[in-house]
Amino acid sequence: MNLLLLLAGAYLLGSVPFAIVSSRLFGLADPRAYGSGNPGATNVLRSGNKAAAALTLVGDCLKGAAAVWIAAALGFSAAEAALAGLAAFFGHVFSLFLRFNGGKGVATALGVLAGINPWLALLCLAVWLLTALLSRYSSAAALAAALVSPLAGYFLVGDGVVVGVLAVMAAVLVWRHAANIRRLLAGTEGRIGQKS
Ligand code: G3P
Repeated sequence: MNLLLLLAGAYLLGSVPFAIVSSRLFGLADPRAYGSGNPGATNVLRSGNKAAAALTLVGDCLKGAAAVWIAAALGFSAAEAALAGLAAFFGHVFSLFLRFNGGKGVATALGVLAGINPWLALLCLAVWLLTALLSRYSSAAALAAALVSPLAGYFLVGDGVVVGVLAVMAAVLVWRHAANIRRLLAGTEGRIGQKS
């Protein structure tokens, strides 16, 4: 299979917005209409429906991992598989099904990390959990994990393309959290699970 076709397929897969899908399944309001307005698991949790938030998290995470796993299963190199993960991540952030206005990409990035190297994902998940436990801010946890990921990838994987993919995802994650950063600095960011 052609690499461009793989990247297009991964982008399409990443474009599936599980926050919207699970909200519809559970009969909830569109997550773009409340809380932070972000179609992601943290915001779906603000609806008070934990199952819908969990389904969002698992779906968004799995599509990132699946893009990498499918690429590897098709015989693409580790670097090409990481690029497929990046394409899925871009699909989530600039979703074709949401007029290129998707989510922030945290869960999908975690899935991509898991596809690249499970230890890398576990390490970043540990950073996320520790920061979340200490701060109760999902955004602060995501930012901490994003900043750690390229460095951790450098030591755990080493491949230049893979580290580049991690750095691009980290940069996009920080950019997508610009409003959260402003709220964190102003002390107005909502805590995890705090209803909207
Ligand atoms: O996973 C996204 C999270 O880091 C922030 O979400 O809804 O608080 O902007 P939200």
